[in-house]
Amino acid sequence: MANLVIDSREIPQYSVESVLDAVIWGDALEVLPKLPDEMADMVFIDPPYFLQLPQKRLLRWKVKTIVEGVDEDWDKFESFESYDQFIITILKEVKRIMKARATIWCIGTYHNIHRIGKLMQDLGFWILNDVIWVKTNAMPNWLNVRFTNATETLIWAVKDKSVKGYTFNAEIARRFSKGKLAINVWELPICIGEERLKDGQGKKLHPTQKPKALLERVILISTKEGDIVFDPLAGTGTTGVVAKCLNRHFVMIEKRQEYVEACLKRLSQEITQPALWRSDEK
Ligand SMILES: C[S@@+](CC[C@H](N)C(=O)[O-])C[C@H]1O[C@@H](n2cnc3c(N)ncnc32)[C@H](O)[C@@H]1O
Repeated sequence: MANLVIDSREIPQYSVESVLDAVIWGDALEVLPKLPDEMADMVFIDPPYFLQLPQKRLLRWKVKTIVEGVDEDWDKFESFESYDQFIITILKEVKRIMKARATIWCIGTYHNIHRIGKLMQDLGFWILNDVIWVKTNAMPNWLNVRFTNATETLIWAVKDKSVKGYTFNAEIARRFSKGKLAINVWELPICIGEERLKDGQGKKLHPTQKPKALLERVILISTKEGDIVFDPLAGTGTTGVVAKCLNRHFVMIEKRQEYVEACLKRLSQEITQPALWRSDEK
């Protein structure tokens, strides 16, 4: 069973032990400064996309059903400047929390990933790769006014240019590639079917739940057993669930109660499943 840590003003500082394998329920902007230096072996950040959806909901051409985006409050920011400030604050704290040889993954779409890449470079992170996730079951663009957006980009980086000896399990990376080379293109479906969490009305519990298979690749390639994987914007807790399945530790932060509850439920129900990546073996 995972620990639940409820953040409060009365807690001035956290030790590694007090947050190990825990979901911290709180605002990352308040929790991060209280976490210890050099705690994490790897960080995965799946931040708000700042989709800036139009006021009027888009209807699919012909079928007239509503185009689903991310309409939640947590994805709304006043301006690019306020979005950038949010990302900068998170990245600065995360950099302090990363061990010297730790790596960081940030995922996003064309809406936000270019800003994030620029901000990472401004903060001194050294980008090792970008990995293109090709969604094999992407939602079609019925409006026919632009391409169907079928990709997300993951930026993989170290704290600065001087970092050597970070974990890259090349053999596993090759296994996830089509040819002999460990290329930076991954083909995977988005999270659907039984894996997709639903609310009481049968609707998606979270608009951007990531597939476990994506996190399996990230974690297997860039960590070792026993490492600490940190996710400061955890959503439904995919990162922690997969970390645990693969015998890694996790620390996660999430501010919305229903998502924290989803994390805890998943951590009590999904950990016993065998790691999916074994079925990918060639
Ligand atoms: C893109 S989602 C992450 C989805 C996650 N990777 C998953 O598989 O479910 C971003 C999450 O960040 C959370 N969030 C946004 N701002 C936050 C903050 N200041 N503190 C903690 N969580 C925050 C949102 O509630 C949302 O669940």
